[in-house]
Parts: sequence; C-alpha cells; structure tokens
Amino acid sequence: MPSWAPSSSRGNELSRVEAPVTIRGYLLCVFAAFGGILFGYDSGYISGVLAMNFFKQEFGRKRYSANAGAVDNPDAYNGFIYDTWQKSLITSILSAGTFFGALFAGSLADWVGRRSTIISGCVVFSAGVVLQVASTTVGMLVPGRLVAGVGVGFVSAVIILYMSEIAPKAVRGAIVSGYQFCITIGLLLAAVVDQSMHKDMTSRSYRIPMAIQFLWALILGIGLFFLPESPRYYVKKDRFNDAARSLSILRGQHVDSVYVREEVDELIASHRYEMENTHPGWGNCFRGSIWDSASNLRRVLLGVALQMMQQWTGVNFIFYYGTTFFQHVGVKNAFLIAMITTAVNVLSTPISFWTIEKFGRRTLLIYGAIGMAMCEFLIAIVGAATHANSHTSTASGYVLIIFTCIYIFFFASTWGPAAWVVIGEVFPLPIRAKGVALSTASNWLWNFVIGQITPYMVDKGYADMGTNVFFVWGSTCALCIAFAYFFVPETKGLSLEQVDRMLHETTPRTSAKWVPHTTYANAVSRDDSEKTAAQAAEHQDSTV
Ligand code: BGC
Repeated sequence: MPSWAPSSSRGNELSRVEAPVTIRGYLLCVFAAFGGILFGYDSGYISGVLAMNFFKQEFGRKRYSANAGAVDNPDAYNGFIYDTWQKSLITSILSAGTFFGALFAGSLADWVGRRSTIISGCVVFSAGVVLQVASTTVGMLVPGRLVAGVGVGFVSAVIILYMSEIAPKAVRGAIVSGYQFCITIGLLLAAVVDQSMHKDMTSRSYRIPMAIQFLWALILGIGLFFLPESPRYYVKKDRFNDAARSLSILRGQHVDSVYVREEVDELIASHRYEMENTHPGWGNCFRGSIWDSASNLRRVLLGVALQMMQQWTGVNFIFYYGTTFFQHVGVKNAFLIAMITTAVNVLSTPISFWTIEKFGRRTLLIYGAIGMAMCEFLIAIVGAATHANSHTSTASGYVLIIFTCIYIFFFASTWGPAAWVVIGEVFPLPIRAKGVALSTASNWLWNFVIGQITPYMVDKGYADMGTNVFFVWGSTCALCIAFAYFFVPETKGLSLEQVDRMLHETTPRTSAKWVPHTTYANAVSRDDSEKTAAQAAEHQDSTV
C-alpha cells in the first residue's frame, strides 16, 4: 500500500501515535467532503429559481397588467410576481431549518453516531426535496425548504465533526478544506443549472434544479454506508474493539498493528482524562472561565464567534446580492460578473489544501482578513471618490470588479476553509459534537441575519449606500484580523488530543510554537507507575 509521511506533524518523536497516511485512507476521508455540494447547491439554487419567469407566473399572483408590469415592477413577468415577504420567506426558511437541524444533530451525533446522523440527514433532506418538487404554491414550497433545511443542518454540522475525527492529523486541514471546495462547486453547479433552465416556460424550469438535489443526497447517503463510523465516537461509547476496527480501515493497517493499538490507546486515555474534567451535556459547553483558553466556554465562544466573523467578512453579499448590486452601481453584464466571482471562488479554494498545512490555520486567517480588508477599503474609497466627482467612471467599475475578484480569492483560500477546519479541531471529545453543532448553527444564524439586513443597506428607498457598503465590510474584516490574532490558536500538525493538551498549556498567541512532549497514554501509564511506586513505598514503610 503506498504511503507518504506526514509533512507538517509537530513533534516528530511522537508521530508514532498515528500511522503514515495512505492514499486509500486519504480518499476514504475525502469522500465525506461531498456533503459540501449539498450545502452549496442548496443555498445557491434558489436565487436563480426566484428570478425565473415561469416560477413567477406559477407561484406569484397577477398584481399588474401585463404592460404596466415592466414599468411598475421591473421584476414582474407579465404582471405576475410574488410578494416581497414571500420571497424573503422562501429564501430564509432554509437557514431557519439548518439552524435547528444543526443544533439537533449535536445530540443525535453523540447518540446514534456521526455517520448515521449524516445518513439520516440525507433522508430528511430528500423528504424536503419531494415536497419542493411537488409544490405549485408558496404554501407547499416553504415547508419543503424547511424540511430540507433541517437535513442540510444535520449534514453541515456533522460532516465537519466526522471528517475531523477520521482524518489523519497531517492532512486533516487539507481534507476539511475539501469540504469548502465542495461548497464552492455546489454554488457553481447551482448557478449553471439555473442559467440553463431559466428560459424554459414549463414547470421543468424550477423542478429540474430542485430535483437535482436528490442526486447529492443519494451519492452522499449511499457512499457513507461504505465508510466506517468515527473511531472517536466508538471510544466515547466504550466500544474499543469497534474503534480499533474502524481505525484499521481508515489507516489501512491491520487491526492488531502497533499503529492502530497506539492510536486507540491515545484516544481512550485522552477521553478518560477529559471525562474527569468535563461531562457531555449541553450545559457543559458553557462551563469554565472566559479567560482560560482551554475552558469549554472559551472554546465554544471561539467556534461560534469564528463562524459569525466568517459571515461578517461580507462574502455572501457578493454571492447573494452580487448580481443586483453590480447592476445597481451601473456595471454592465452583471450576470457574467456573478459567474466570474463564483468561478474565482472555486478555483482559489484548492490553494488552501497546501497553505493550511504549510502555514497553518491562524496565519491564513490573519493574512486572509488583511487581504480582504484592503480590497474592500479600496473599492469603497475609489467608489466614494468617483461619487464625489459626480461622474460614473469606467475605471471605478473596473476597480470594483477586479478587487471583488481579489477579495473572493482571499476569502476562498483562507477564511472559507479555515473557519470550518478550526471548529472541527478545538473541542474536547465529550462536547465535540455539540461544540461543532453550535458553531455551525452560528454560521447559519448570521448567514440569515446578514441576508436579511443587507438589502436595507443597499436598496434605493433605504440606506442606498452604493459602494460605501464596502466601508462596512472593510471594518468588519479589520475586526476579523484582531479576532484571529488574539483568539485563534494554531492547530496544524497536531492530533485532536494534542490540540487539547496544547490549549491547556498555551495562549493563542504562543500556540504555534508548542510541540507535543508526551502522549495521554504515556502520562496515564506514568501516573499509574507513580501510583504503584508510591503504594509500594507506603507498603514498605508500614512493614518496616
Ligand atoms: C460560507 C458560506 C459561503 C461560502 C462561499 C462558506 O464557507 O459558510 O456562507 O456562501 O463559503 O464559498
């Protein structure tokens, strides 16, 4: 079996805790990233469907005469349009479903297992898709999106947990970044499918984009049947033989090999240590001091805030409202530009597969936020200067387009993947499923909030900020720099158990220099031998 040595492991003297990475093991772990397609496609397809003429006619009502429609409401088709509240409900109900789905999955993943939760997520999701495809009214489409959202919530929260737990430490960052890559592919596929169906004037125009969602659920659900359950879940359930069997499949080693035995020993010792300090309930996610970077409360706040800040980078302003915004500020060919930004998103993400292991999560987050903030301030300043001179210049249009693309490049190669990678790594096993679930729910909550408030920031009749909105995103990105610098620890090259120990022994700013100096299993056996020696000495004393 081909194998390649971990390149970014810290503390090589302890790298024996894990077997060398094999191509087969790598591919097994990478398959789960496919769940990202579900996430990306589902959040992406609806904006195109809402813009389809047949959809407007079928789901909307006639509010204008056919001719007046174009004048009174340029969005209406033949006078048909849905109400604004319906549009907002159809779009945002998915985030509501995912928010609750993610939270519920946090309990389910500890109860029935990570793999089974993702598979049930695919089943729930498919039920939602049936409702969507069958719908001809908003009243039926909304419950369909809600149910599908719950399924996406299961999948999006637990995939990160599952991937982080099964991946070898040297490539864990790259493997979890693969999930972000799939999100970007999902977004692109949605744009392409919408684009190719939007002229069709039958129900196929919206039913095909909706029905395609089945395919993603089917591939993910069936594929996962062939993957093993997370060994860390088995350890949590005291099923050590199952944990060893699962690890032997994932690492491509015999179940009795020294690698498998040592890794299982380490998982068990670390879990026992953590269980002495933490219990698995939801309440324990909020225990401990906010000043202690290893406390559960601090780790949960880190995960929740990291996902919140990822949304505050402003990325979805481009993906959700990019087309209308570009049109609004006078850029010609806004649809084309939107396709270009989506393509830049896909093409830039793979860079992180290498950089996340080479430079680390923390470095990527700090420099990525600096890059994004610079682009956003530049767009805002050039926009404001052009506006002050009261002429629309082609130059400012180019600045907007070019720096939006560079901004997306920075997001896709840094905050996009790294925010997901870090939340999979910072929680101790007893609360890991719940911590990842809370962080994912935060992503969806802020996704929803920002999606709701953004139109009021840019629309005519409201704040109508134009390119000045980039002053807001530039400032929030500046906060992201400070957040990453002060609060995000460096986790690259460490096993999840070593991350746990590192958090106990360092602060975020000193974390990158930390190297593992002992394993939990060694510490336990040292404790045991110290205890035995003390008991022997006591025994000797009492017999003297
Ligand atoms: C974010 C999404 C965003 C996507 C863009 C993800 O990491 O969580 O909100 O739409 O990246 O690629």
